Amino acid sequence: MERHRIFITRQIPEEGIEMLRRVADVEVNPVDAPMDRAELLARIADCHGVVGLLTDRIDAEFFDAAPVLKGYANYAVGFDNIDVAEATRRGLPVSNTPGVLTNATAECAWALLFAAARRVVESDGVMRSGQWTGWGPLQFIGGDVSGKTLGIVGAGRIGTAMALMGRGFNMKVLYTSSSGRRNAVLESELNARLVDFDTLLAESDFISIHTPLTPATRHLFDAASFSRMKPTAYIVNTARGPVIKEDDLVAALKAGTIAGAGLDVYENEPSMAPGLAELDNVVVLPHVGSATRSSRTDMATLAARNLIAMLEGRRPETCLNP
Ligand code: DGY
Repeated sequence: MERHRIFITRQIPEEGIEMLRRVADVEVNPVDAPMDRAELLARIADCHGVVGLLTDRIDAEFFDAAPVLKGYANYAVGFDNIDVAEATRRGLPVSNTPGVLTNATAECAWALLFAAARRVVESDGVMRSGQWTGWGPLQFIGGDVSGKTLGIVGAGRIGTAMALMGRGFNMKVLYTSSSGRRNAVLESELNARLVDFDTLLAESDFISIHTPLTPATRHLFDAASFSRMKPTAYIVNTARGPVIKEDDLVAALKAGTIAGAGLDVYENEPSMAPGLAELDNVVVLPHVGSATRSSRTDMATLAARNLIAMLEGRRPETCLNP
């Protein structure tokens, strides 16, 4: 029987590629950058399976370009880059990588929260530039964390893990839920309170965003939302950039409408909104929430297992189709 052909749109950890090589002929994009769209569409013309990234748009045009495709595996938990309804309409399985990057992303949210609150990057810059003149009582005063209120927007796997990791800081935890479903773990472990979005904005000292990007969450945080937050509050985003209207965030940070922000994701990656990088009260990371050795390796092996299942006509472990 003819061996299946698989294309991987970017170099991923070798463990996943090796698994796929055992069952199929595998080609990996040799260039470490997102692929040009036309080149990608031409490349998948004879492929039975594709592993792609959040930077690849998986839509009707993609599926049209791959007439023998049996399935697509996303190397990411977020799947706003995939038209799942279109895949389902065509009977094509598509998958993502939930679970294996939960702790890594939650830890990254804490790194951003502390870095923003305690002005870590700003202070580090002063040390490195040789400008520090010695200890001073008014230098780099930041926000308190212990005992403050943490607002989780989107208390799914990562939002729940983030809140649980904060146990030692004795924070009051609020959360929102788009489905209205209560989070039993957060409520029993942390005494967390399900609130509406306005209450979360008004009462939180730290807001951490963990919601997927959907039409309902695009620009959930805009000038109006920032104006309802405390002027001493911080916002952290490790989910998807467009949940925040970035120009409005720049304006809010400049005006002191909120105290600061920690961002791992951006509205138009890899760009940042004009003015954002010049501000001292924001910490900016290059979308590295899942970038730990074990998470990235486990993402590769989960994506590989998913794609192998699809090629064998089985339902993948973490299938996105209903
Ligand atoms: C995801 O998985 O959705 C992250 O954004 C990248 O790991």
